[in-house]
Amino acid sequence: MMMGALKPRPDILSIEPYKGGESTVAGIDRVIKLSSNESALGPGPRAIATIEAAAREAHRYPDGECLALRRAIGRRYGLDPERIVCGAGSDEIITLLTRAYSGPGDEVLYSEHGFLMYAISARTVGAQPVAARERGLRADVDALLAKAGPRTKVLFLANPNNPTGSYLGKDEVARLHAGLPAGALLVIDAAYAEYVTRNDYDAGAEFVEANGNVVMTRTFSKIYGLAGLRLGWAYCPPAVADVLNRLRNPFNVSHVAQAAGVAALEDIAHVDAARANNDVWLPWVTAELEKLGLKVAPSVGNFVLVRFPDSPERNADAANAFLCARGIIPRKMGVYKLPHSLRITVGREAEMRALVSALAEFMA
Ligand SMILES: Cc1ncc(COP(=O)(O)O)c(C=O)c1O
Repeated sequence: MMMGALKPRPDILSIEPYKGGESTVAGIDRVIKLSSNESALGPGPRAIATIEAAAREAHRYPDGECLALRRAIGRRYGLDPERIVCGAGSDEIITLLTRAYSGPGDEVLYSEHGFLMYAISARTVGAQPVAARERGLRADVDALLAKAGPRTKVLFLANPNNPTGSYLGKDEVARLHAGLPAGALLVIDAAYAEYVTRNDYDAGAEFVEANGNVVMTRTFSKIYGLAGLRLGWAYCPPAVADVLNRLRNPFNVSHVAQAAGVAALEDIAHVDAARANNDVWLPWVTAELEKLGLKVAPSVGNFVLVRFPDSPERNADAANAFLCARGIIPRKMGVYKLPHSLRITVGREAEMRALVSALAEFMA
């Protein structure tokens, strides 16, 4: 008997699949990958040793509750482990929160150049993604609040934001939260929190503790150098933690990732080294690129958004091709509606010097 053609829900075919940063260039063996905001230093020695040892237990199911890891996160950040939920990257937490709190007919709000996964996860549940315009490549509290209404179920604020590198201070986040309609969840995505050195910045734990509708998400993919293992977490009001624990898969975080996460948290020296690398090379690369006449958005993360001239010989596409031909891979920004810019991760000294000399040649 002939069956009708299979049809997924229509929202699903409107999803543009997420594409990570490129990691290879045809014909070049050793590349400098600056396309995914990964750690300049990679995993620390304690995490590597733990991962090797954990391989011997690969036949065992992991602890479905991530207890040791949640306790380690709690110790490191002074948080209540009962309110922590771990996931396969903070991407998984973003998707779970969207699934739990929004659906068809609802809206998921974020700022214009916000992290791509917010719109994608909204579409996966049939909710409408809504973007509020930014001002000077910064989330704009008034524009977000103007778009927030009774249908708004989740507001994602990447703080700092990828790819712009900008952040909102604690007072602005408080004003955003105070203006939200009842029944909306504020998700503060603090994937880059460990790099921020501004004293008006707060990653969001206090907001979570003071309110029933704020969640903070964090990741081991950035300063901890474990992006390949997929490990993230959320700090939640108890009721939200309960919801996520019902919704998530039973063994959503691998045994290796849990063990590596604990080791990475305890390797304070390695995290300090990664932060110190950023503290030196973020301002350096910003200043050097500005000297070449490029516009660099002020960043508090481990990456910079660089605006190129409009001329066909000097534009972002030409710069991308020029860099890739030299084995240096930035991230193109068309999908973020910033086609004139490239996003470049802060790497190690040699990588930053190679980048700047290549761009000096490009701009000459
Ligand atoms: C703002 C932001 N949030 C979340 C993520 C997802 O991180 P992961 O799923 O690796 O934890 C990223 C990754 O680039 C990001 O830039």
